Amino acid sequence: MIQDNYIQFECFYASEQQKSQYADFLNKSHQANCQLERDEHEGKDFLGWLHLPSATSTQMLDSIETEANRLRHICDVVVVIGIGGSYLGAKAVTEAFVKPLSMDDNDCRICFAGYNMSADYMQMMLDYLSNKRYGIVVISKSGTTTEPAISFRILRKHLEQQVGIDEARKRIVAITDRSKGALLTIAKKEGYPTFPIEDSIGGRYSVFSPVGLFPIALAGIDIRAFVQGALKAETFTDDKHEGNIAEQYAAWRQLFYADGRKIEILASYNPRLNNIAEWWKQLFGESEGKNHKGIFPASANFSTDLHSVGQWIQDGERSLFETVLEIKQAEYKVEIPYDKENIDNLNYIANKNIEDVNASACLGTMKAHAEGDVPLLHFSMPRLTPEALGTMLYTFERACAISGYMLGVNPFDQPGVEAYKRNLFTLLGKPGY
Ligand code: PA5
Repeated sequence: MIQDNYIQFECFYASEQQKSQYADFLNKSHQANCQLERDEHEGKDFLGWLHLPSATSTQMLDSIETEANRLRHICDVVVVIGIGGSYLGAKAVTEAFVKPLSMDDNDCRICFAGYNMSADYMQMMLDYLSNKRYGIVVISKSGTTTEPAISFRILRKHLEQQVGIDEARKRIVAITDRSKGALLTIAKKEGYPTFPIEDSIGGRYSVFSPVGLFPIALAGIDIRAFVQGALKAETFTDDKHEGNIAEQYAAWRQLFYADGRKIEILASYNPRLNNIAEWWKQLFGESEGKNHKGIFPASANFSTDLHSVGQWIQDGERSLFETVLEIKQAEYKVEIPYDKENIDNLNYIANKNIEDVNASACLGTMKAHAEGDVPLLHFSMPRLTPEALGTMLYTFERACAISGYMLGVNPFDQPGVEAYKRNLFTLLGKPGY
């Protein structure tokens, strides 16, 4: 078995009966991984992500960093516009690394738009931007998705009014298809710098393409280390490494699902991972939820949710399994101080790092959930670094594709997303609907 330096995986708890079926599921998982490498499945035209880390050239990384640095230099705030796979990866990674309370004036702040149609949200954003030196990164593979298109139209007009058309052109970057779509047409007409999204890479598998890398670079995060981490996972999760952690994770997921566990909860003990969970939910939910099948992906952040849905997880209907994503060593140490009065009775943990208490909460909760018959998988990263996160996210992508193949669905399309769009366009009276 491949041991990797950055992430570890184990099945922390499964019933004896479940364990007895594992070898069979792992074998199926390996077969699915082989199919993936050999382009032998439905969706084979959407495998551009599979070897993307190794195909990403130094020139591409250079041009992303150069353009991102130019924009950082002329803007205090950049609004990244996109929805679904066109923003969740960037949001997940930037919010894992950017300090929420940063007061550093040199930081270029990133905020996100285009993923809702709330007038309140938009007006508050316009108010916030009205006295800021800001720019826009607009991301849409199709270049026609309604939510980001509306946000872009509003924000672009606002920026043009604030700084003039010529200056606005310098502050807008578009990431879209190479050859088609309304966004490409606008970008060409206005002369915006653009980065391409390849046809063979679907939104939710695009975090290692310019879709994710450009905003991540904009936030000052090391995209080379991030891609390096993914490259490592690309190698150790391929079909030559039979039984690798992506195959193991996919095998356990499908085994639990076949055993009636229809919900998976991704649990973490660090709020820096909250948006990683949002990215993960989209990846697995949009890839697997088809033909009336699929594990429902949910998430929990502990300790917060131990005082909320924790009760349900421990004691409610036994229809779920849990995957814990743990960071072994936090970036900072915060000691609990000694207090001579000890009115709050906390001196028994005085001088301990708060993170040690968190680690005990993690292990204690995992044990409690196992005792409560919640099948439990466990990933850990020694530290939260761009490289480790690159390894983790690529491993999830690979496991998701394997898991989708095992389930018998195409993990790269999203036909169900069209249903709401048809109704929306009919209600709005869009020509042709
Ligand atoms: O994962 C996907 O493919 C989707 O979530 C898309 O990313 C999302 O629908 C946005 O599409 P587009 O980038 O074409 O605007």
